[in-house]
Amino acid sequence: MTRLKTKILVDGGDPQETLRVTELLGYVDGQTTNPSLVANNPHIKQLLASGRKLSEQEEMDEYRKIVREISPFVGDAGVSIEVFSDRKTTAQEMVAQGKEMYSWIPNAYVKYPCTAEGLRAARMSVDQGLRVNLTLCFSQQQAAAVYAATKGTRAPVYVSPFVGRLDDIGQNGMDLVKNVKRMLAHGDGHLLVLAASIRSLEQLLCCFWLDVDLVTVPARVLTLWAEKGFPMPEADFQYRSSAKPIPYEELDLTQPWETFNIAHELTAKGLEKFAADYRKTLADTAVAG
Ligand code: E4P
Repeated sequence: MTRLKTKILVDGGDPQETLRVTELLGYVDGQTTNPSLVANNPHIKQLLASGRKLSEQEEMDEYRKIVREISPFVGDAGVSIEVFSDRKTTAQEMVAQGKEMYSWIPNAYVKYPCTAEGLRAARMSVDQGLRVNLTLCFSQQQAAAVYAATKGTRAPVYVSPFVGRLDDIGQNGMDLVKNVKRMLAHGDGHLLVLAASIRSLEQLLCCFWLDVDLVTVPARVLTLWAEKGFPMPEADFQYRSSAKPIPYEELDLTQPWETFNIAHELTAKGLEKFAADYRKTLADTAVAG
Protein backbone atom coordinates (compact mmCIF):
# COMPACT_ATOMS: atom_id res chain seq x y z
CA MET A 1 0.00 0.00 0.00
CA THR A 2 1.12 3.59 -0.58
CA ARG A 3 2.61 5.45 2.37
CA LEU A 4 0.01 7.53 4.20
CA LYS A 5 0.44 11.06 5.51
CA THR A 6 -0.30 9.85 9.04
CA LYS A 7 2.73 7.86 10.12
CA ILE A 8 1.98 4.34 11.28
CA LEU A 9 3.83 2.84 14.23
CA VAL A 10 3.53 -0.65 15.67
CA ASP A 11 2.63 -0.66 19.35
CA GLY A 12 4.37 -3.74 20.67
CA GLY A 13 7.45 -5.42 22.06
CA ASP A 14 8.08 -8.31 19.70
CA PRO A 15 10.42 -7.86 16.71
CA GLN A 16 8.86 -10.81 14.86
CA GLU A 17 5.46 -9.17 15.13
CA THR A 18 6.86 -5.91 13.73
CA LEU A 19 8.39 -7.83 10.85
CA ARG A 20 5.04 -9.50 10.12
CA VAL A 21 3.25 -6.15 10.10
CA THR A 22 5.92 -4.65 7.84
CA GLU A 23 5.31 -7.46 5.38
CA LEU A 24 1.56 -7.06 5.62
CA LEU A 25 1.53 -3.28 5.09
CA GLY A 26 4.62 -2.97 2.92
CA TYR A 27 6.17 -0.57 5.45
CA VAL A 28 5.93 0.76 8.97
CA ASP A 29 7.15 4.21 9.98
CA GLY A 30 8.05 3.42 13.55
CA GLN A 31 7.48 1.50 16.75
CA THR A 32 6.47 2.27 20.31
CA THR A 33 7.36 0.07 23.26
CA ASN A 34 6.64 0.34 26.98
CA PRO A 35 7.49 -1.73 30.09
CA SER A 36 4.27 -3.76 29.85
CA LEU A 37 4.87 -4.60 26.19
CA VAL A 38 8.47 -5.59 26.94
CA ALA A 39 7.33 -7.85 29.80
CA ASN A 40 5.03 -9.45 27.21
CA ASN A 41 7.82 -10.14 24.71
CA PRO A 42 7.71 -13.89 23.88
CA HIS A 43 11.33 -14.52 24.91
CA ILE A 44 10.91 -12.71 28.23
CA LYS A 45 7.62 -14.50 28.88
CA GLN A 46 9.33 -17.81 28.19
CA LEU A 47 12.12 -16.97 30.65
CA LEU A 48 9.58 -16.04 33.32
CA ALA A 49 7.51 -19.15 32.66
CA SER A 50 10.59 -21.30 33.24
CA GLY A 51 10.96 -19.66 36.65
CA ARG A 52 13.83 -17.42 35.61
CA LYS A 53 13.85 -13.81 36.83
CA LEU A 54 16.13 -11.04 35.65
CA SER A 55 18.51 -8.63 37.29
CA GLU A 56 17.98 -4.96 36.41
CA GLN A 57 20.99 -5.14 34.09
CA GLU A 58 19.62 -8.26 32.36
CA GLU A 59 16.27 -6.54 31.92
CA MET A 60 18.02 -3.58 30.25
CA ASP A 61 20.04 -5.99 28.09
CA GLU A 62 16.88 -7.78 26.95
CA TYR A 63 15.18 -4.45 26.21
CA ARG A 64 18.21 -3.34 24.19
CA LYS A 65 18.18 -6.59 22.20
CA ILE A 66 14.50 -6.14 21.39
CA VAL A 67 14.82 -2.56 20.15
CA ARG A 68 17.99 -3.35 18.21
CA GLU A 69 16.10 -6.05 16.33
CA ILE A 70 13.15 -3.76 15.66
CA SER A 71 15.16 -0.68 14.70
CA PRO A 72 16.06 -1.65 11.09
CA PHE A 73 12.47 -2.69 10.29
CA VAL A 74 11.02 0.78 10.79
CA GLY A 75 11.15 4.15 9.06
CA ASP A 76 11.90 7.66 10.23
CA ALA A 77 9.35 7.82 13.03
CA GLY A 78 11.86 5.80 15.05
CA VAL A 79 11.55 3.42 17.97
CA SER A 80 10.23 4.84 21.23
CA ILE A 81 11.95 3.34 24.27
CA GLU A 82 10.44 4.03 27.68
CA VAL A 83 12.46 4.80 30.79
CA PHE A 84 11.56 3.01 33.98
CA SER A 85 9.98 5.47 36.40
CA ASP A 86 7.67 5.56 39.35
CA ARG A 87 6.49 8.30 41.72
CA LYS A 88 9.95 8.59 43.23
CA THR A 89 12.10 8.69 40.10
CA THR A 90 13.81 12.05 39.62
CA ALA A 91 14.33 13.83 36.31
CA GLN A 92 18.08 13.24 36.59
CA GLU A 93 17.53 9.50 37.04
CA MET A 94 15.22 9.42 34.04
CA VAL A 95 17.71 11.31 31.87
CA ALA A 96 20.53 8.93 32.86
CA GLN A 97 18.41 6.01 31.64
CA GLY A 98 17.25 7.97 28.61
CA LYS A 99 20.79 8.73 27.47
CA GLU A 100 21.77 5.09 27.81
CA MET A 101 18.69 3.97 25.83
CA TYR A 102 19.24 6.63 23.19
CA SER A 103 22.69 5.17 22.49
CA TRP A 104 21.24 1.72 21.70
CA ILE A 105 19.98 2.50 18.19
CA PRO A 106 20.32 5.35 15.70
CA ASN A 107 16.56 6.03 15.52
CA ALA A 108 15.61 6.13 19.21
CA TYR A 109 12.99 8.31 20.84
CA VAL A 110 13.12 8.34 24.63
CA LYS A 111 9.74 8.09 26.32
CA TYR A 112 9.15 10.09 29.47
CA PRO A 113 5.86 10.35 31.37
CA CYS A 114 3.70 13.51 31.44
CA THR A 115 4.65 14.28 35.04
CA ALA A 116 6.63 17.21 36.42
CA GLU A 117 9.78 15.07 36.62
CA GLY A 118 9.11 13.65 33.17
CA LEU A 119 8.77 17.15 31.72
CA ARG A 120 11.99 18.27 33.40
CA ALA A 121 13.70 15.18 32.01
CA ALA A 122 12.33 15.97 28.55
CA ARG A 123 13.64 19.54 28.70
CA MET A 124 17.10 18.36 29.79
CA SER A 125 17.06 15.70 27.07
CA VAL A 126 16.12 17.99 24.19
CA ASP A 127 18.79 20.41 25.38
CA GLN A 128 21.26 17.57 24.93
CA GLY A 129 19.95 16.76 21.46
CA LEU A 130 17.85 13.67 22.30
CA ARG A 131 14.55 12.98 20.54
CA VAL A 132 11.70 12.48 23.02
CA ASN A 133 8.14 11.18 23.24
CA LEU A 134 5.98 12.28 26.18
CA THR A 135 3.72 9.42 27.12
CA LEU A 136 0.71 8.83 29.39
CA CYS A 137 -0.96 12.05 28.20
CA PHE A 138 -4.58 12.24 29.28
CA SER A 139 -5.39 15.94 29.13
CA GLN A 140 -5.01 18.95 26.89
CA GLN A 141 -3.28 20.77 29.79
CA GLN A 142 -0.60 18.06 29.86
CA ALA A 143 -0.09 18.41 26.12
CA ALA A 144 0.19 22.21 26.51
CA ALA A 145 2.81 21.68 29.23
CA VAL A 146 4.76 19.34 26.92
CA TYR A 147 4.63 22.01 24.22
CA ALA A 148 5.90 24.71 26.58
CA ALA A 149 8.57 22.52 28.21
CA THR A 150 10.13 21.42 24.91
CA LYS A 151 9.98 24.66 22.92
CA GLY A 152 12.97 25.56 20.80
CA THR A 153 14.00 22.01 19.87
CA ARG A 154 15.35 21.03 16.48
CA ALA A 155 13.93 17.51 16.18
CA PRO A 156 10.16 17.15 16.49
CA VAL A 157 8.89 16.09 19.89
CA TYR A 158 6.01 13.60 20.20
CA VAL A 159 3.15 13.77 22.65
CA SER A 160 1.10 10.59 23.06
CA PRO A 161 -2.56 11.07 24.03
CA PHE A 162 -3.97 7.72 25.23
CA VAL A 163 -7.34 7.08 23.58
CA GLY A 164 -8.38 3.64 24.88
CA ARG A 165 -7.58 4.30 28.52
CA LEU A 166 -9.79 7.43 28.51
CA ASP A 167 -12.57 5.38 26.93
CA ASP A 168 -12.09 2.89 29.77
CA ILE A 169 -13.19 5.58 32.24
CA GLY A 170 -16.12 6.65 30.07
CA GLN A 171 -14.49 9.64 28.34
CA ASN A 172 -14.17 9.98 24.60
CA GLY A 173 -10.42 9.56 24.08
CA MET A 174 -10.64 10.59 20.42
CA ASP A 175 -11.80 14.03 21.61
CA LEU A 176 -8.48 14.50 23.40
CA VAL A 177 -6.58 13.74 20.18
CA LYS A 178 -8.80 16.17 18.28
CA ASN A 179 -8.43 18.90 20.93
CA VAL A 180 -4.64 18.58 21.16
CA LYS A 181 -4.36 18.73 17.39
CA ARG A 182 -6.58 21.82 17.26
CA MET A 183 -4.54 23.51 20.00
CA LEU A 184 -1.22 22.72 18.30
CA ALA A 185 -2.44 24.31 15.06
CA HIS A 186 -1.67 27.59 16.88
CA GLY A 187 1.85 26.47 17.79
CA ASP A 188 5.26 26.51 16.14
CA GLY A 189 5.07 22.94 14.80
CA HIS A 190 7.74 21.41 17.05
CA LEU A 191 5.25 19.11 18.82
CA LEU A 192 3.60 16.26 16.91
CA VAL A 193 0.56 14.25 17.99
CA LEU A 194 1.14 10.52 18.29
CA ALA A 195 -2.24 8.93 19.00
CA ALA A 196 -1.74 5.96 21.35
CA SER A 197 -3.72 3.33 23.24
CA ILE A 198 -5.64 2.52 20.05
CA ARG A 199 -7.98 -0.43 20.50
CA SER A 200 -10.16 -0.55 17.38
CA LEU A 201 -10.25 -0.11 13.62
CA GLU A 202 -12.80 2.68 14.12
CA GLN A 203 -10.25 4.60 16.22
CA LEU A 204 -7.53 4.05 13.61
CA LEU A 205 -9.81 5.38 10.87
CA CYS A 206 -10.70 8.37 13.02
CA CYS A 207 -6.97 9.13 13.39
CA PHE A 208 -6.62 9.13 9.59
CA TRP A 209 -9.70 11.29 9.28
CA LEU A 210 -8.30 13.78 11.81
CA ASP A 211 -5.00 13.73 9.94
CA VAL A 212 -3.00 13.09 13.11
CA ASP A 213 0.77 13.20 12.64
CA LEU A 214 1.40 9.67 13.90
CA VAL A 215 -0.60 6.78 15.29
CA THR A 216 0.72 3.76 17.16
CA VAL A 217 -1.37 0.66 16.70
CA PRO A 218 -1.31 -2.91 18.05
CA ALA A 219 -0.58 -5.57 15.41
CA ARG A 220 -4.05 -7.02 16.00
CA VAL A 221 -5.75 -3.82 14.75
CA LEU A 222 -3.33 -3.37 11.83
CA THR A 223 -3.97 -6.98 10.80
CA LEU A 224 -7.71 -6.37 10.86
CA TRP A 225 -7.22 -3.24 8.76
CA ALA A 226 -5.18 -5.24 6.21
CA GLU A 227 -7.74 -8.06 6.13
CA LYS A 228 -10.45 -5.54 5.30
CA GLY A 229 -8.36 -4.22 2.39
CA PHE A 230 -6.96 -1.08 4.09
CA PRO A 231 -10.20 0.96 4.17
CA MET A 232 -9.84 4.74 4.57
CA PRO A 233 -12.44 7.05 6.12
CA GLU A 234 -14.86 8.81 3.78
CA ALA A 235 -15.04 12.63 3.95
CA ASP A 236 -18.28 12.35 5.95
CA PHE A 237 -16.76 9.82 8.40
CA GLN A 238 -18.43 9.87 11.80
CA TYR A 239 -16.74 8.41 14.86
CA ARG A 240 -19.34 6.73 17.01
CA SER A 241 -18.82 6.83 20.74
CA SER A 242 -21.22 6.72 23.65
CA ALA A 243 -18.51 8.05 25.98
CA LYS A 244 -18.64 11.51 27.56
CA PRO A 245 -17.28 14.22 25.23
CA ILE A 246 -14.11 16.05 26.31
CA PRO A 247 -14.54 19.80 25.73
CA TYR A 248 -11.84 21.91 24.07
CA GLU A 249 -9.97 24.34 26.35
CA GLU A 250 -8.53 27.68 25.26
CA LEU A 251 -4.93 27.52 26.52
CA ASP A 252 -2.12 29.96 26.02
CA LEU A 253 0.87 28.05 24.66
CA THR A 254 3.23 30.93 25.41
CA GLN A 255 2.90 30.33 29.16
CA PRO A 256 5.59 28.43 31.14
CA TRP A 257 4.87 24.70 31.48
CA GLU A 258 4.57 24.95 35.26
CA THR A 259 1.39 27.04 34.88
CA PHE A 260 -0.57 24.14 33.37
CA ASN A 261 -2.42 21.58 35.47
CA ILE A 262 -0.60 18.38 34.62
CA ALA A 263 -2.09 16.13 37.31
CA HIS A 264 -4.18 13.24 36.01
CA GLU A 265 -5.28 10.09 37.84
CA LEU A 266 -4.64 7.95 34.74
CA THR A 267 -1.04 9.17 34.46
CA ALA A 268 -0.42 8.13 38.07
CA LYS A 269 -2.19 4.79 37.51
CA GLY A 270 -0.34 4.19 34.24
CA LEU A 271 3.02 4.79 35.92
CA GLU A 272 2.15 2.29 38.64
CA LYS A 273 1.11 -0.34 36.11
CA PHE A 274 4.28 0.11 34.01
CA ALA A 275 6.41 -0.09 37.16
CA ALA A 276 4.58 -3.23 38.32
CA ASP A 277 4.98 -4.95 34.94
CA TYR A 278 8.67 -4.02 34.88
CA ARG A 279 9.17 -5.39 38.41
CA LYS A 280 7.38 -8.63 37.51
CA THR A 281 10.36 -9.51 35.31
CA LEU A 282 12.88 -8.94 38.10
CA ALA A 283 14.30 -11.25 40.72
CA ASP A 284 13.29 -10.14 44.26
CA THR A 285 16.89 -9.14 45.00
CA ALA A 286 16.88 -6.81 41.98
CA VAL A 287 13.57 -5.06 42.73
CA ALA A 288 14.03 -1.32 42.65
CA GLY A 289 12.03 1.14 44.74
C1 E4P B 1 2.23 3.57 23.38
O1 E4P B 1 3.10 4.43 23.34
C2 E4P B 1 1.47 3.30 24.61
O2 E4P B 1 2.32 2.89 25.63
C3 E4P B 1 0.39 2.28 24.31
O3 E4P B 1 -0.32 2.69 23.17
C4 E4P B 1 -0.56 2.06 25.48
O4 E4P B 1 -1.63 1.25 25.08
P1 E4P B 1 -2.65 0.56 26.10
O5 E4P B 1 -3.43 1.64 26.75
O6 E4P B 1 -3.49 -0.32 25.25
O7 E4P B 1 -1.82 -0.19 27.11
